[in-house]
Amino acid sequence: MNSNAIFPLLCLAAAILPMTPLSAGTSSYTVVPFGTTASGQPVQLYTLVNSNGMRADVTNYGAIIVRLLAPDRTGRMDDVVLGFDTLDAYLRETPYFGALVGRYGNRIANGRFTLDGKTYSLATNNHPGGVPCALHGGLVGFDKVVWEATPLLVANTAGVSLHYVSADGEEGYPGKLDVTVHYWLTNANELKILYSATTDKATPVNLTQHTYFNLRGEGNGDILGHIVTINASRYTPVDKGLIPTGELAPVAGTPLDFTSPHAVGERIHAPDTQLALAGGYDHNWVIDRAGAGLAPAATVYEPSTGRTLEVWTTQPGVQFYTGNFLDGTLAGKRGVPYQARSGLCLETQHFPDSPNHPSFPTTILRPGEKYETATIYRFSAR
Ligand code: GLA
Repeated sequence: MNSNAIFPLLCLAAAILPMTPLSAGTSSYTVVPFGTTASGQPVQLYTLVNSNGMRADVTNYGAIIVRLLAPDRTGRMDDVVLGFDTLDAYLRETPYFGALVGRYGNRIANGRFTLDGKTYSLATNNHPGGVPCALHGGLVGFDKVVWEATPLLVANTAGVSLHYVSADGEEGYPGKLDVTVHYWLTNANELKILYSATTDKATPVNLTQHTYFNLRGEGNGDILGHIVTINASRYTPVDKGLIPTGELAPVAGTPLDFTSPHAVGERIHAPDTQLALAGGYDHNWVIDRAGAGLAPAATVYEPSTGRTLEVWTTQPGVQFYTGNFLDGTLAGKRGVPYQARSGLCLETQHFPDSPNHPSFPTTILRPGEKYETATIYRFSAR
């Protein structure tokens, strides 16, 4: 299907018929300007709507998911992701709300790693516990660049393809990395994210999505009552700099055991060294899987609305982060300040600091290889 041919027609339809309700059963996309970056690059907002009226707003600045409207048990749509109304707010300050994170999502100890005998230095842009590390790709990671975007409508499914070429040496990483990410809003109420990349020199790669979910609706209180299940009997414990010790420790007998459903707030203040180090949950769980391919990573159920989020991934790990660093200084789309725990992240990923842990699954991509991962965020209500 030639999406370029459909695109002007949809824009025209949106311009002439702004109040026309969507016809049931039809997926669509629209594109509107979202502002201009400090360097003068224009940025767009891509609105994807599926056949059930579920909607995702995506900007090509940082490949950020700005809004995600999902139905509750009565069919009422609400925006279930944290974020801002304007590009300027994202440009000022954001703790990675909705962003596509790379080249290396999560932490690299001391901002250093050695690959094929050569040591690389990265900016240390994060200091948990006073210990420096490289976080989420550096000072200008993939969350702060403008992606080349193409809206798509294929087999009645709306999506957007996002492409970015990271130069050799960008943020200290070796190799020119050519990255394509697809966001699809399927008619099964799934946000399906397909990541791919190639490189011309060996480099670590760990791409993830940093959306903060609040299934009650963003700005509508905290996530402590959300009931979480994580399909993982082990996790990677961290030191005071939130860097994995290298151990794959059992969750059994700890407040990190989500193999059966627990409210986020049930044990978050339990006396536990790992929770104390991170100020809540901010750890990588090792997904239990029988083999390669899509496996269930986590389920979140919100009792008051019935909204349920299932996360499936091909990745080996998932970072469950409970918004511990949010402190009320940033106000979201409803104008409500985001306090600690006003959203939760389920960042599917390789294990943090893998380049410094030969025992972890490798994150090194080499020329001739293709990086390919998939993650599905599936919404329902009960
Ligand atoms: C990730 C990290 C957290 C924090 C957030 C951003 O989830 O694991 O420690 O840095 O990003 O604030």
